[in-house]
Amino acid sequence: MGVRYIGSKARVADAIVDLAGPSRGGRFVDAFCGTGSVASAAASRGWAITVNDTLPSAVAMSVGATVGRGNVSFAPLGGYSAAVRALNAVPGSPGFVHSQYSPASTATGEVERRYFTEENAARLDAMRARIGQWVTAGYLTKVEQELLIADLLQAANKVANISGTYGCFLKAWSPAALRPVLVRERLLPPRTTDLDAVVGDVTLLQTTTNDTVYFDPPYTKRQYSAYYHLLETLHAGDSPQVGGVTGLRPWKDKASDFCYKSRALGALTQLVLGTTARQILLSYSNEGHVPRDYLINALSEAGTVTVHEIQTIGRYRPNARASANADTVDEYVIEIQPVRMDPEVPKAHRYRGSVVHTA
Ligand SMILES: C[S@@+](CC[C@H](N)C(=O)[O-])C[C@H]1O[C@@H](n2cnc3c(N)ncnc32)[C@H](O)[C@@H]1O
Repeated sequence: MGVRYIGSKARVADAIVDLAGPSRGGRFVDAFCGTGSVASAAASRGWAITVNDTLPSAVAMSVGATVGRGNVSFAPLGGYSAAVRALNAVPGSPGFVHSQYSPASTATGEVERRYFTEENAARLDAMRARIGQWVTAGYLTKVEQELLIADLLQAANKVANISGTYGCFLKAWSPAALRPVLVRERLLPPRTTDLDAVVGDVTLLQTTTNDTVYFDPPYTKRQYSAYYHLLETLHAGDSPQVGGVTGLRPWKDKASDFCYKSRALGALTQLVLGTTARQILLSYSNEGHVPRDYLINALSEAGTVTVHEIQTIGRYRPNARASANADTVDEYVIEIQPVRMDPEVPKAHRYRGSVVHTA
């Protein structure tokens, strides 16, 4: 996977896809895709895939995690390997990442940011600019572009001087951060994935009664748009106004309702009741904002509800204190077999039942 991601389901992806069973003509919709670990497991079992996330960087990572050899050719660049080699050969050229996220930041502000060494930051700038030039020249399809950016995000993550997220950088340089950044070609599976990739709010995603829809919403107050701001900037290749010690780009327009304790239950309930699908799988955690019983009670409005314990898994925690407090988290998946609704009734009118609020 390459990017440590809060709430990643990489370790339990197969168990989750087991619940979906074999593909029966519909799509497997990973509607909060993050790194795409669950979509990747479903794609390897032959499902047609839809990935969706509010963060373009997450959708790129998910495209990278699900494509097969048949999805990309990189013909104008001489193939995928040649494209990666060409990227690694680009000499460093200081740009926005260098000016804001390496020690060079002291030239424009008071904070010395140590996310990347100056050399690596300049190379990341140059490689991102080169991908942009290839896009402008018409050398890359959209899928090829997203795959290369996903490879660049993985490369950046390997040399980022952080303890997991981009919520802060380390004061002292870690040994990994001092190594030269290197883009690695990933081993693509020998298939052509039927893939739709969507950047957008989950509430806008269209699904059908044939689909299996997987929801893996945030369940704590940690906002992904803030914690992974630098992946967003690398993906966009833009130069936003950034501020504070950490150099945060504007992120509040991507703030998620699911991260607010007061809104989470209402948002989850409306989401499930408003979703057209053959089967809905919702991952949640005993550490989440909404107690399990409240969730089950509210979701029973939507259809037949079954709770699957996914096992107590070790999982990535964003800081040392969190790791010391607990090493594991109880994940479960709520499976909902929706009550069939009249397809003629507009989606907005299908919401039935009351929302139970937490105290
Ligand atoms: C728990 S993570 C998903 C992890 C993923 N299953 C994996 O294995 O990497 C939640 C994801 O939901 C996204 N997200 C949060 N609110 C959203 C919304 N309203 N619509 C779409 N995506 C959202 C976040 O950007 C984040 O990538």
